[in-house]
Amino acid sequence: MSKSPFLLDTKSVSYVIGEGALALSEKRLKKYRRIIILVDENTEKHCLPVFRKHLPDIDINQVVVIKSGEKQKNLDQSIYIWDKLTKQKVARDALFINLGGGVVTDIGGFVASTYKRGVSFINYPTTLLGMADAAIGGKTGIDFEGYKNQVGLFANPVSVVIDPIFLHTLEDIQWQSGFAEVMKYGLIMDRDLWYILAGKNYRDIDEWNNIITRAARDKIDIVQYDALEKGIRKNLNFGHTIGHAIESHYLNRDHPVTHGQAIAAGMICETWISSRIFEMDCTRTQEIVSMIDLNFSKFDLTEDMIPELIDLMRQDKKVREGKLKFSLIRKLGKATHDVEVDFDLIVDSLKYYINRHVTSE
Ligand code: GLY
Repeated sequence: MSKSPFLLDTKSVSYVIGEGALALSEKRLKKYRRIIILVDENTEKHCLPVFRKHLPDIDINQVVVIKSGEKQKNLDQSIYIWDKLTKQKVARDALFINLGGGVVTDIGGFVASTYKRGVSFINYPTTLLGMADAAIGGKTGIDFEGYKNQVGLFANPVSVVIDPIFLHTLEDIQWQSGFAEVMKYGLIMDRDLWYILAGKNYRDIDEWNNIITRAARDKIDIVQYDALEKGIRKNLNFGHTIGHAIESHYLNRDHPVTHGQAIAAGMICETWISSRIFEMDCTRTQEIVSMIDLNFSKFDLTEDMIPELIDLMRQDKKVREGKLKFSLIRKLGKATHDVEVDFDLIVDSLKYYINRHVTSE
């Protein structure tokens, strides 16, 4: 039985989440006389036909296609899109639609909110990662000079439309990547979500509508309260300080891993650090680590790679007086931010990751 989408109108963004959300967005789209849609090569092929099928009365005036992948989130692609809009004389009252994963919503939001000082845009995320995280919260931007999200701005879409129908187009590895962020909400703020997921592999889950709605609402709760990441929004960085170093490490070796795979490893290390600092009980720590192991293979890291990982972390914006500030969990479902952690403890957490025995493999 299909459920009704969840609707939430906040001061700046209107959210439509759940099965049927796509069709329900028609009324809003009809307010615009001119609609431009941004897709990448994958979503052009797999998601644009779904969009057209469910919104047959919506005229799309222009489709802009970029190549797929994080490498495309750059200035050249932004210029390419601005150029298309300029040549087509797109005016400020047009609507820009981002149909895709995090790369499309990041660069599309950036281009839309800077073109002619800002045209309205709507995010239609098509990946689990986009639905649970990237499309919500107004972070837009591009990578620059090797740094992720170096140039960008906080700019909210007028609406975020999250319809799990697009998930049917996803490859296994993208499901897995998004699942890391979904688990994260359980750990940092939503014990009930954790218990829904506990003991399950993402491939065996069938209640995605419910899970996505829950994860998206968790994120909305946080960004509504702290849009500019001055405080509680930092909790979303749990697993990301060590995770980003692991992601960069593999990227620098031309062996990229998914964001979710890196963040899952980061969450194991940062759960271990949390357990040391906040004395979380051993059984709970083991339960969290086992759940992550059930869904992600262990990386082939060795102790001689630790210095490089530490160097990568030292370049992190959050280093203060030789110490890094982490977002950690005090207990299941409760996170805290700006916790200073000594580099010795970070090294020990990586040793723990490397030397532990994984039973589920
Ligand atoms: N992805 C983390 C945030 O939106 O703050």
